[in-house]
Amino acid sequence: MSDAVIYQVEGDVAVLAVNNPPVNALSHAVRVGLVEGLDHALADDTVRAIMLIGMGRTFPAGADIREFVSAPKDPWLPEVCNRLEAASKPVIAAVHGTALGGGFEVALGAHYRIADDKAAFGLPEVTLGILPGAGGTQRAPRLGGAEVALDLMLSGRPMKVTDKRAGVFFDRVVSGDLRQAALEYAAEIIADGANPRPTRDITDGFRDAADYQSVVQDKLAEVSRRPEIAPVEIVRCVEAAALLPFDTGMAFERAAFDTLVASDHSDALRHIFFAERKAAKLPELAQGTARDIDRVGIVGGGTMGAGIAAACLSAGLRVMLVERDGTLLDKGLSRIRDILERDVRRGRLGIDRFEDHLSRLQGRDDLVAMADMDLVIEAVIEEMDVKQQIFAQLDGIVGENTVLATNTSYLDINEIASVLEQPEMLVGLHFFSPAHVMRLLEVVVGERTGADAVATGVALAKRLGKIPVRSGVCDGFIGNSVFAAYRAVCDFMMEDGASPYEIDKAMRSFGMALGPFQVSDLAGLDIAWARRKRLAPTRDPADRYVVVADRLCERGWFGQKTGRGYYRYPDGARKGEPDPEVLAIIEAERAVAGIVPRSFSVKEIQRRVLAAMANTGARLLREGIATRPGDIDTVLVHGYGYPRWRGGPMKTADQAGLLALKADLERFAAEYPRFWQVEPVFDALQREGRHFSDLDRES
Ligand code: CAA
Repeated sequence: MSDAVIYQVEGDVAVLAVNNPPVNALSHAVRVGLVEGLDHALADDTVRAIMLIGMGRTFPAGADIREFVSAPKDPWLPEVCNRLEAASKPVIAAVHGTALGGGFEVALGAHYRIADDKAAFGLPEVTLGILPGAGGTQRAPRLGGAEVALDLMLSGRPMKVTDKRAGVFFDRVVSGDLRQAALEYAAEIIADGANPRPTRDITDGFRDAADYQSVVQDKLAEVSRRPEIAPVEIVRCVEAAALLPFDTGMAFERAAFDTLVASDHSDALRHIFFAERKAAKLPELAQGTARDIDRVGIVGGGTMGAGIAAACLSAGLRVMLVERDGTLLDKGLSRIRDILERDVRRGRLGIDRFEDHLSRLQGRDDLVAMADMDLVIEAVIEEMDVKQQIFAQLDGIVGENTVLATNTSYLDINEIASVLEQPEMLVGLHFFSPAHVMRLLEVVVGERTGADAVATGVALAKRLGKIPVRSGVCDGFIGNSVFAAYRAVCDFMMEDGASPYEIDKAMRSFGMALGPFQVSDLAGLDIAWARRKRLAPTRDPADRYVVVADRLCERGWFGQKTGRGYYRYPDGARKGEPDPEVLAIIEAERAVAGIVPRSFSVKEIQRRVLAAMANTGARLLREGIATRPGDIDTVLVHGYGYPRWRGGPMKTADQAGLLALKADLERFAAEYPRFWQVEPVFDALQREGRHFSDLDRES
């Protein structure tokens, strides 16, 4: 029998233990093993009940996502679930860890369910652009009703078995030895002479048909507004569960699953699932060892420093905040307190834990306080001199095992490291604002950064629940380099004839959370203005420079916080209104530049943005700043509001077709060759019939 499912008989119970580390995904070998084990148990007259359990850390956590690219091999998972359900002897699922997706569907196919009290279960398929395709859409509402079933399927969030709504799915929740408890439960079932209890026969979930239907209709209205296609299909399947006989409902589910799994959305969402995990495997991890981190020093209590401190406190670390003087220190400490208090108000943090977090926070106005820290993160203003001074001082204060990190978002880490006695101890840790919320962490590796410092940065990311992505050193690293190209191309289009409002609308309809000009207004135009002024002396005069933003800043229009920017925010409104004066300024500047305005379609705006992002990403790959295309996608999705269901710009480029994108790039390059230098990889990949995602697979 297959090694992926271990078959044992204990007394009169056959135990089928899934053995497919790390998460017991229901790969082909597991499905074969389950069917073989079931047949064996049914043929053995001494066996009176069958138990399904997972070995290692979990009950199966789903179908094997890697298998979705090709036609499934027999037996398919829906068939496995049907056969378990049709068994003539009671089948008991013993759940621990995370019974997700196909794993939970297997449990729904069983007749009885017992769970360890720490276990969770769920139907996260929507996060992969698909729906539960092994009967989950038909069985979950039968057992639990429409509301809880739809909640599981549309949110994709796991639910704890101890949640009171989980009771409809689990017959028994136990602590201690699950296998033993499940054997005892099986003995009771046998002693009671209890029969198999096929979920397909349950009608309780539909008892209140009107109520069921109204839940379905409400959800349909809600999900129709979402850009993804899977949620609507999920609701339709749940509706079908009540309206159609079980087997017809299963066929309905299968047809929807087949459509979704072949869709671009699902392709993109599966890509980003694996890209996030691969990104966290930095090459330096093979050579370096992470230092133990308990005490983190943070230099600078501004927005970033305070956010980083809050993230560290929430992860159970001790934090020492250092500011230049007592006044700034008080401000920094109260910023941290404010963040945590907000979490308490929103119910995300209990008062006990709030007190505990604060008890681990200290502050000083002298860098000497950093002497016994395991890690020191600098988060002061973006000025090379200031940063170098701080690190030069820290060099004489911290021990030789202290890892040093800078939160710079643009500056050259190699230059910062040049003031250090041990430059190998410095790593870039680029957090995104708000740092206690955003999951992305760019781990910036300089020429002399040591593998231990990198490993420590990655360990910190994991401790904080963040996704680390490696970036080499360049102006803006991965994220801000791609974002700068995006912003530039939007400025060019604005000067050439599109209004900022048209561009924002086009990018929102592409799926961006906000349009680029809305983002500028929200972030504050003054920050980018200060940077432009700083860079002005070294700017190449041959570069195209759009002055509109400068004109707004000269008027004191810094965005939302000043009531005016690209938009108007009357009476402190959060949502901006288009501003005719801004359009007049743009028109005047066009005239100065001698540009005759032309119109841009939504499609053209989106194509230019995609071309600029993907071409910049390709350059970062060629220069070795980014390790793989999936890293760039992970950065854009987690740091810049790029729609997850598009998978990131490199994935969107693959889906748009590299030949077509190259043709676009060449057309744009004819207009402005300095900006649009077509990266050679487009030609190379499309000639070989390959994609950026092939580079991911090979890395
Ligand atoms: N298929 C294939 N590989 C999977 C997988 C799956 N369903 N789930 C996890 N893995 C892999 C990960 O890629 C990772 O591989 P590497 O070590 O090579 O990077 C490894 O298992 C461990 O995963 P994590 O790093 O994510 O481990 P974790 O402990 O942080 O999280 C988890 C564990 C909660 C199970 C998480 O992996 C997860 O959420 N997995 C996806 C669950 C899921 O979406 N299931 C539904 C699948 S679709 C389905 O089942 C369709 C259907 O109806 C038939």
